[in-house]
Amino acid sequence: MTAKVGVPAEIKADEYRVAITPSGVRELVDAGHEVFVQRGAGEGSAIGDRDYEAQGAVILPTADDVFGAADLIIGVKEPQPEEVARLEPRHTLFTYLHLAPAPELTKALADSGATCIAYETVEDRDGRLPLLAPMSEVAGKIATQAGAFMLEKPLGGRGILLGGVPGVAAANVLVIGGGVVGMNAAFIAIGMEADVFVYDRSIDRLRELDIIFGGRCSTCYASTLEIEQRLPEADLIIGAVLIHGARAPRVVTRDQLALMKRGSVLVDVSIDQGGCFETSRPTTHSDPTYEVDGIRHYCVTNMPGATPITSTYALTNATLPYLLDLANLGVRAAVTANPGLARGVNIAGGHITYAPVAEAVGLPYSPLEEALTASEAA
Ligand SMILES: NC(=O)c1ccc[n+]([C@@H]2O[C@H](COP(=O)([O-])OP(=O)(O)OC[C@H]3O[C@@H](n4cnc5c(N)ncnc54)[C@H](O)[C@@H]3O)[C@@H](O)[C@H]2O)c1
Repeated sequence: MTAKVGVPAEIKADEYRVAITPSGVRELVDAGHEVFVQRGAGEGSAIGDRDYEAQGAVILPTADDVFGAADLIIGVKEPQPEEVARLEPRHTLFTYLHLAPAPELTKALADSGATCIAYETVEDRDGRLPLLAPMSEVAGKIATQAGAFMLEKPLGGRGILLGGVPGVAAANVLVIGGGVVGMNAAFIAIGMEADVFVYDRSIDRLRELDIIFGGRCSTCYASTLEIEQRLPEADLIIGAVLIHGARAPRVVTRDQLALMKRGSVLVDVSIDQGGCFETSRPTTHSDPTYEVDGIRHYCVTNMPGATPITSTYALTNATLPYLLDLANLGVRAAVTANPGLARGVNIAGGHITYAPVAEAVGLPYSPLEEALTASEAA
């Protein structure tokens, strides 16, 4: 079959990534598919229209044209309201969605009738998240960089250098959630010579981290009391917890901010799943921080968007094999062949097909098979 793949420009604030590179266009075109890219879509990632055209893409002037020409729409961030309005039942949308904290978006996507596949809930054979991992690697590294910067006095921080100097102690960095984000945040914090404590609720994960870091940071069980007792010593706390597809669990409450030093910094990477600190609210790269009770909060929902030249290539290296399967086989055959891809389908035929999202937004859950049948009948 020939698929018509559409790549609109990203329109979320300060988002410079794009969902395909010229290599991806080449693979799709070589496999017999058509690719429609919105004019200027790659500019933020230093990819010109001509780079896409040279590999066989058709450049279209507007997002309306791309949605009109294509059936399989690929993106980076969750669709904005004007993009949702362009979706029809014939469309398949393949992008990050982060629906658990977004009931309005979930309902609007269900009402569109489109099939919506979320990068962040696709699983590999071992139950890991192959399409979240590359952006988590980037976000984890940015989290420590951003936190170190925000700790500088002119930016409202305490004025402490992460690594200290001979004769002056290093800062204390707490990383809560030791998955992909947490491990990468800890790597950078260790590299900057901070004193690092990584918290997780999975003992197996703590075991792995202990081996990976070879004793260069402390691994701690993330009980409420353990975290609370460490708060008075913390200079920088990075929140990196995730329960797949669900709203982020809360790991620091507003009352607990009173235990922390004034000018210390919270970086909530889990903000895209609703945030793991009670006082978190989404921010943008243009206005990344705010203060609550003397504690600086950094809660940017699209952190990898700040480093598009790294992030676009890291993301598309991971998404391309799935995109090729969707284009070559169509949704039903692709998800039948790959149960991990089936875990990515959050919405089909107007139904919510991913249980943690249905539960979080308070809408009924439908098994994928039934929803796809409804979608095909529509
Ligand atoms: N803001 C951004 O731009 C951005 C970018 C990439 C990823 N993220 C988000 O970062 C978060 C983490 O992603 P990841 O890829 O590292 O996930 P992951 O699944 O690799 O790791 C999450 C870890 O959290 C642990 N965990 C779960 N509940 C916990 C709790 N109550 N206390 C302590 N640990 C707990 C899990 O055991 C796991 O090790 C996700 O919400 C993801 O969407 C945000």
